[in-house]
Amino acid sequence: MNIAIVTGASSGMGREAVIQIGDRFGKKKIQEIWVIARRSDRLEELRSQVPVPLRILPLDLTRENSLDVLKRELKERAPRVKILINAAGYGSLGNVGDSGLFEETGMVRLNCEALCGVTHVVLPFMTDHGRILLLASSAGFLPQPGFAVYAATKAFVISFGRALNRELKPRDIVVTSVCPGPVKTEFFDREGMAGDFPFYKKLVMADPKKVVKKALRDSMMGKEFSVYGLGMKGFFLLSKLLPHGLLLQLEERMSDSGQSKSGNETHEAKENARLNEKSEMTEKHGVNEKTKINPKAEALE
Ligand SMILES: NC(=O)c1ccc[n+]([C@@H]2O[C@H](COP(=O)([O-])OP(=O)(O)OC[C@H]3O[C@@H](n4cnc5c(N)ncnc54)[C@H](OP(=O)(O)O)[C@@H]3O)[C@@H](O)[C@H]2O)c1
Repeated sequence: MNIAIVTGASSGMGREAVIQIGDRFGKKKIQEIWVIARRSDRLEELRSQVPVPLRILPLDLTRENSLDVLKRELKERAPRVKILINAAGYGSLGNVGDSGLFEETGMVRLNCEALCGVTHVVLPFMTDHGRILLLASSAGFLPQPGFAVYAATKAFVISFGRALNRELKPRDIVVTSVCPGPVKTEFFDREGMAGDFPFYKKLVMADPKKVVKKALRDSMMGKEFSVYGLGMKGFFLLSKLLPHGLLLQLEERMSDSGQSKSGNETHEAKENARLNEKSEMTEKHGVNEKTKINPKAEALE
């Protein structure tokens, strides 16, 4: 039995990958897709959208015994794994130490440790000429103050993926590191992502369908990297050509100008509200004619 395995299949790019694998390969080439995530109801919902039977494995990949469950399933059914997609992952914004300990270290457990663990357990069942896709991120191209742990986990994924790609050359298994910029998924709905996201990043949010389509195509073409969008390709190139210190400075400036812009707007809004309130008060009590005409007049004196 030929199968594909997708982690993080309950939403976003993992879910999209399941749908596209089903459409692209159909039952003839892939007889089952094994889908892994914690929310089993979401995985069940996928059944009606994919023409290939799904095997649902509701697992929390940060728990050690989850890998035992996967190992047992693989041993019992002895499938031939054609495609492995490691998409489970999350990010949390903030400086190191700002969020909870487990929120921070959990990124390392899921984005790095679980990704390595799943790959380790699945590798003996992979067929020659198989494909492994690792959901890395353009955040892994450069250290990211304010997103340090997440960016470091993705740098790990890129390094791991490149080395693994070389190791698996004799078996003609291709490992592709998928490195999009921001993508419109539930990734941004988590509480840990509720902080200020730089304004320029919001402008380049990609469609998960397109990112996954390109990733699958690049993987089939044997590419080591799949970088979606011109902006991210440019960023990738710059991160190879320019010193990281210089790029960090540039990024800092862009964030600062974005923040000070929104900061000024907030300050002005607050100031107007304060003056309007004062103006209403004086209107009520019939004093200070100047503030009635122009609430800012008082501030100008
Ligand atoms: N969205 C972006 O802007 C972006 C950009 C670059 C790279 N990425 C990377 O792409 C991958 C997919 O992200 P996405 O954007 O599709 O986000 P998403 O919609 O939030 O999907 C994340 C997936 O990971 C699963 N997951 C989370 N914790 C898990 C755990 N402990 N055990 C098992 N599964 C777990 C989630 O399922 P359950 O909650 O059901 O467990 C969900 O299916 C991630 O590795 C992310 O870092 C995202």
